[in-house]
Amino acid sequence: MTFENLLTAIDNGVLTITINRPDKLNALNKKTVDEMGVAIKDATSNSEVKAIIITGAGQKSFVAGADIAEFIGRSVEQGKVLAQAGQNIFKEIENCPKPVIAAVNGFALGGGCELSMACHLRVASDNAKFGQPEVNLGLIAGYGGTQRLIQYIGKTKAIELHMTGDLINAEQALNLGLVNYVVPQDQLMAKCLELIAKIRSKSPRAITGVINSVNAYFENGADGFNTEIEEFANCFATEDFKEGTTAFVEKRKPNFTGK
Ligand code: COA
Repeated sequence: MTFENLLTAIDNGVLTITINRPDKLNALNKKTVDEMGVAIKDATSNSEVKAIIITGAGQKSFVAGADIAEFIGRSVEQGKVLAQAGQNIFKEIENCPKPVIAAVNGFALGGGCELSMACHLRVASDNAKFGQPEVNLGLIAGYGGTQRLIQYIGKTKAIELHMTGDLINAEQALNLGLVNYVVPQDQLMAKCLELIAKIRSKSPRAITGVINSVNAYFENGADGFNTEIEEFANCFATEDFKEGTTAFVEKRKPNFTGK
């Protein structure tokens, strides 16, 4: 599938989606957000894809935010449509049954920070900068940022970052629990692939169960404990569960097939 603002490539089951507007620091205009929605839907249904990496083109920026130029002149109603559409697509990323890693290769600001937070894991290069600077524009986050930043770093620092618009560097993001790892920029993709290799050595069915159960903790109206019971029990019907337990007893490595 070809896109105007995304580059996609599948290598050994790993789909890399690269947001490709480097001259605009990969700012998310409507077209790009829509294309991301299509790419994620396609990746979810494509059995060739086992894991996804989302990154930005160039060395400077993951995504420097929603495209500010497109905001000018919008009405309240248009603002609602914009935020709803962005939130829907970011939820699709969050609920994707396959592991999604953000390879944060520079600025992750506003919608970029929000996009990284919609991914299951975040690996940052040492030049990365995170923040929700929307207040500088007389605006607040609209793609889930007020809700997800709290989930990762707690209310104390989340409300401070949203209120001040301050940016934090990769090391601060690591210390706050916003990112999983910080690595030199030239090792960013290798670290993501290393994580994916580890996750792919497990049962894909079990990994989806983890995603669904952990996400249920934060879902309005969902009973996360109950989701966990369902997902746990569903594992008992899988070939992977039989293989995993048999391999343990036989003292060998399991060979998971995702069935
Ligand atoms: N929306 C639209 N365009 C953006 C953008 C955004 N969020 N962020 C950067 N750009 C564009 C700039 O307008 C500039 O385009 P131009 O060359 O056509 O003028 C280009 O990307 C390069 O950005 P520039 O500001 O020149 O780079 P810099 O290194 O001086 O500064 C930032 C980098 C990230 C600090 C600065 O671009 C910035 O503050 N961006 C906005 C961040 C933001 O508020 N995000 C939340 C949006 S809701």
